[in-house]
Amino acid sequence: MAHCLLVFIWNLILTILTKKEINCVTLPEVENLYERIFNGYDKRVFPLLNQSETVIVSVDVLVVSINKFDEISGNIDITVAFKLIWQEQRLTWIPSDFGGKTSILIDPQDIWRPQLLLRQSFDSVQDIGNTPLLIRLFFNSSVYWFPATVMSVSCTVDVTYFPFDIQICNITIVGWVYRNDEIVLSVSSSTIDKSFYIENTQWDLLNDSSLQNQTTTDIAPSFTIQLKLKRKSEFFVLYIIIPLIFLGLINNIVFSMPVASGERMSVAVTIFLSFVVYLEMINNNVPESSNPVAYIYVYVLFLLAYSCVILLACLVSLRIYDKAEPVPEKLKAVIKWLRFRCMWRKTCSVVPTSKENKEEIHEVSESPHEDFYDENGDKAIEAVTIVNDITWELVGKTYDMYVPIILYMCFAVMTGQTFLNLYTNSSFLR
Ligand SMILES: *[C@@H]1O[C@H](CO)[C@@H](O)[C@H](O)[C@H]1NC(C)=O
Ligand SMILES: *[C@@H]1O[C@H](CO)[C@@H](O)[C@H](O)[C@H]1NC(C)=O
Ligand SMILES: *[C@@H]1O[C@H](CO)[C@@H](O)[C@H](O)[C@H]1NC(C)=O
Ligand SMILES: *[C@@H]1O[C@H](CO)[C@@H](O)[C@H](O)[C@H]1NC(C)=O
Ligand SMILES: *[C@@H]1O[C@H](CO)[C@@H](O)[C@H](O)[C@H]1NC(C)=O
Repeated sequence: MAHCLLVFIWNLILTILTKKEINCVTLPEVENLYERIFNGYDKRVFPLLNQSETVIVSVDVLVVSINKFDEISGNIDITVAFKLIWQEQRLTWIPSDFGGKTSILIDPQDIWRPQLLLRQSFDSVQDIGNTPLLIRLFFNSSVYWFPATVMSVSCTVDVTYFPFDIQICNITIVGWVYRNDEIVLSVSSSTIDKSFYIENTQWDLLNDSSLQNQTTTDIAPSFTIQLKLKRKSEFFVLYIIIPLIFLGLINNIVFSMPVASGERMSVAVTIFLSFVVYLEMINNNVPESSNPVAYIYVYVLFLLAYSCVILLACLVSLRIYDKAEPVPEKLKAVIKWLRFRCMWRKTCSVVPTSKENKEEIHEVSESPHEDFYDENGDKAIEAVTIVNDITWELVGKTYDMYVPIILYMCFAVMTGQTFLNLYTNSSFLR
């Protein structure tokens, strides 16, 4: 008894003398701690004192990088770190008993931990925590586990709005083996932590990517990471869209080429073939998905059709210039209306009186066929004289004037509509 008292006093003196030492954790103390807390511990049992309760696992997600997104096969590889926190109610200690040690590291194999699977696994079904990253256990029973993993996720790709598309990938992490009353995975924040995020060169991770609690219909505890990825479209705009629009614009120049040069058809065919080449280029970048079809295909198809129409219109124009027989009266009337319709209104009321006007008319009348492009109302008198000798050449010129305007209008409407809808990701069929 006296011996014990002596030791106690000695310890007390030591403690008082070496006050700093009190927080210094000694090796035996730590070993003792591990031994104490794992004595009789069974990792198969839920970490609850009252086993009828539910384990609440708090979840946070850090997306570190998007490594690869293969839209063709619908496979996305991402590096993700999870922050899982729960209470291991059986493992507690008083820090002062163990030299002030407040937390220890434990191998995940030695302790109960939630077994979580990735539901949309692409190549193998992976246990989220299959890396042997240590778990930190605090004296007050809190357990902190940060398993990080590279996940290969399969994701349905919707390329309708390529190249201005936004892909939404739902990544569900599920405690497949548990019942809903055994554990609850509760996400603590609805936003994904991007503190360590590394930018991808092809995809932007949007800020409204979210973390969601389990849906009520799910049979096993789960949570969902909803990734929203926006394609960086600059490359495709430069590589596909702008060249396509340029080709579409120059397609109409065939009508401005002189018929005599005989080049109209060859230029039209060349441009038609260029569209076929572009169709192939787009094909290499867009998944061959039928449901839904990328609208850019529909647009290229329109361009092909447009080019076909130009080709045919070109052929018709050549035939017109080539005709020898007299122009039918009905056609004459149409041409008259098309070319001089502005003047008909004025001929009745406006008779050129000034000297200037008369001179101009005189000059103009020397080359009767050349001067009716601008539909100038002051040339009314000219018009009346010319009306009677409408030749096939004049028909051809009128044709060359109106057909490109109509085609340009179709092209502008279709192009504007397509890219507006693609850019705003709004539906085409309303
Ligand atoms: C254990 O938890 C259940 C459900 O919360 C509760 O009904 C029961 O009274 C608890 N038992 C004890 C011993 O506290
Ligand atoms: C346990 O202690 C840690 C570290 O001090 C703290 O972060 C955690 O919130 C505590 N847990 C509880 C349940 O108080
Ligand atoms: C992703 O989940 C949301 C609801 O959380 C759902 O509306 C959407 O259809 C899902 N998307 C896919 C591709 O499964
Ligand atoms: C998820 O559910 C928990 C309760 O179970 C709640 O505290 C938390 O706010 C929810 N998270 C979100 C993002 O709704
Ligand atoms: C997303 O959030 C980050 C940080 O909060 C901010 O710097 C960035 O501009 C946001 N991006 C968008 C597209 O809103």
